[in-house]
Amino acid sequence: MQHFDSDLISRSETTLRRLWPRLEERFGSRVDAWEWETFQKRVETHFASLFAPLFALYGEQYDFFFHLETILQTIAEAWIGRDSELRALDALREEDPTWFQSHRMVGATCYLDLFAGNFDGLREKLPYLKELGITYLHLMPIFRSPEGDNDGGYAVSDYRDVDPALGVQDDLRKVATQLRQHGIAIALDFVLNHTSDEHIWAKRALEGDANYQAYYWMFPDRSLPDAYERNLHDIFPDDHDGSFTYRPRIKRWVWTTFHTYQWDLNYSNPAVLRQMTEEMLFLANVGVEVIRMDAVAFLWKELGTDCQNLPNAHNVLRAMSAAARIAAPAIALKSEAIVHPDEVSKYIHPDECQLSYNPQLMALLWDALATRKTNALRSAMEQRFAIPGGCAWVNYIRCHDDVGWAFSDNDIEAAGFDPRSHRRFLTNFYTGQHEGSFSRGLVFQVNPATGDARVSGMTASLAGLEHALEIGDEEEVELAVRRITLLHGVIVTIGGMPLIYLGDEIAMTNDYRFTEDHQKYTDSRWVHRPPFNWEQSRRRYDSDTPEGRVYEGLLRLIQLRTQSPAFDRAETEFVDVGNEHIFAFFRSRDEHSALVIGNFSEHPQSIEAKRLRNLGLRKTVVDMFRGEVITAGQRLDMEPYQLMVLVTGAQHGMQQDRLTTSPHAQDHQTNE
Ligand code: GLC
Repeated sequence: MQHFDSDLISRSETTLRRLWPRLEERFGSRVDAWEWETFQKRVETHFASLFAPLFALYGEQYDFFFHLETILQTIAEAWIGRDSELRALDALREEDPTWFQSHRMVGATCYLDLFAGNFDGLREKLPYLKELGITYLHLMPIFRSPEGDNDGGYAVSDYRDVDPALGVQDDLRKVATQLRQHGIAIALDFVLNHTSDEHIWAKRALEGDANYQAYYWMFPDRSLPDAYERNLHDIFPDDHDGSFTYRPRIKRWVWTTFHTYQWDLNYSNPAVLRQMTEEMLFLANVGVEVIRMDAVAFLWKELGTDCQNLPNAHNVLRAMSAAARIAAPAIALKSEAIVHPDEVSKYIHPDECQLSYNPQLMALLWDALATRKTNALRSAMEQRFAIPGGCAWVNYIRCHDDVGWAFSDNDIEAAGFDPRSHRRFLTNFYTGQHEGSFSRGLVFQVNPATGDARVSGMTASLAGLEHALEIGDEEEVELAVRRITLLHGVIVTIGGMPLIYLGDEIAMTNDYRFTEDHQKYTDSRWVHRPPFNWEQSRRRYDSDTPEGRVYEGLLRLIQLRTQSPAFDRAETEFVDVGNEHIFAFFRSRDEHSALVIGNFSEHPQSIEAKRLRNLGLRKTVVDMFRGEVITAGQRLDMEPYQLMVLVTGAQHGMQQDRLTTSPHAQDHQTNE
């Protein structure tokens, strides 16, 4: 719970006293008395968390209390509409609000059509997900969106109607229930920054309805757009210059941060926040358990700023989070903020988004593979891995989007590089243009003005497998397999929930067919969004193939994570092992502890015996990953790109006192 000043608390209490009887009159008779009481308790507990951000956003508006009341009614309506199974889940999760930190959580993500065809197909693929140990499934956008180009579904035309090609609304509800019965929580996107220009609100706005025009940012001439653009950055420069699109029919410039057909919603209008809260709670009530809050950095606009990460963007999220706590406490919100790491962390809070993508880790893992050095990775993690207790990272190697260099310039400078040229080096490296590069990515969104660019590519292709197979070099294939396993090893063990993009577990490589599709060829991200190759997946049991080796490694990692108590809601402590090519961290909980170490170079590396002793390791340690006992007399030797998960803990010589000296032991937790 946040701490509010006493003035705000008393204001919120007075307000609730005024609003409550009216709410009770309207909704109280629709449920049993004891249920209403539960609801009342929840409202009382969380009302200040709802009131504070709404007051910050709209307190100055003359009709603030009217809007506050309608938002509260929306919340009550959603709570009433929640079915008994979900209410039971609410009760469970109120007892265990950090359920997502469990080591049993293992995430996967896919496009439903590309992975399984449709909802019916997904049911058939359940055994595949269960075999891998998946307990969280993020389905990419499934709602109705414009025919043709629709930004991979991120241009939503209806927040409730499922794309007819996938099924109907009821299928979603059924699948969510069925997955839950199998221990898999479903996650869906909530694309809350914008709608498609085919959404009913946009259509009404195009017909000239002033109410709906006020849902968006619209300007009759260029004066304000020009003024805003002085400080804005182009997000999809390949698509259009600037952030506004002219719609001749209404003679208005519409704010379109992303594509021209994605209209930014105007959250300075409280009616928009109310409506979107209703849409979010709809997702909760069909059984979605984690809601991915899309593009949160852009939610608020203010002249004279770059309109990213503004304090009021946080207030919008906090209000929605409080609404969720009251109406559907079973759900967790996950923020998608691919911005500077210091800004990413601001979205992570028990009262805001409890989960967050970790783009910094993603970018720095690729950095370490390209440079073969782990200094930047280690120092960034030491400084910024810790997040508030009650929250968790979602760690990934790549997602459906590009790989961008979302790290802090300071970390790169401290590692001895010039940030600008280093970013260019990384883009060149991962697009195979740098001499000696093993990688086969494609560029994404080159900005000619700044020289910035990002990279698209499947994990296997970025990590060298495509190139190795092309040249038919067995040794290179082995190195690529190890790189992929090393990256998976880190995300599975580091603390938080790993998120695997389905297809990566069987080492699928780039799919260039998008270049022949006139709707997709301009967006290189489709190179890493291929249809799932079920034929190829059959080779997952054959350890003579890269598919088999990558799969086997990942499976072992997942088993190790879910079976060892050292990974359950455990602390993470990064350590310097005296070798810049090696990344290392302890995971520890109570008397259980594991040391994860990874060699990021293609050469053998070692850790000196003295260092090992300092780390509390004895001469003989067990590597849980390979299932080997290792004797490190003079030093611990590591093969190229080797990953080790060493059991320490009491029985293996872990010095107990070091556990209590963990820098994160007190107020911050870096737990799962
Ligand atoms: C998010 C999505 C991305 C999309 C953008 C606009 O960043 O991950 O795919 O293009 O939002 O919705």
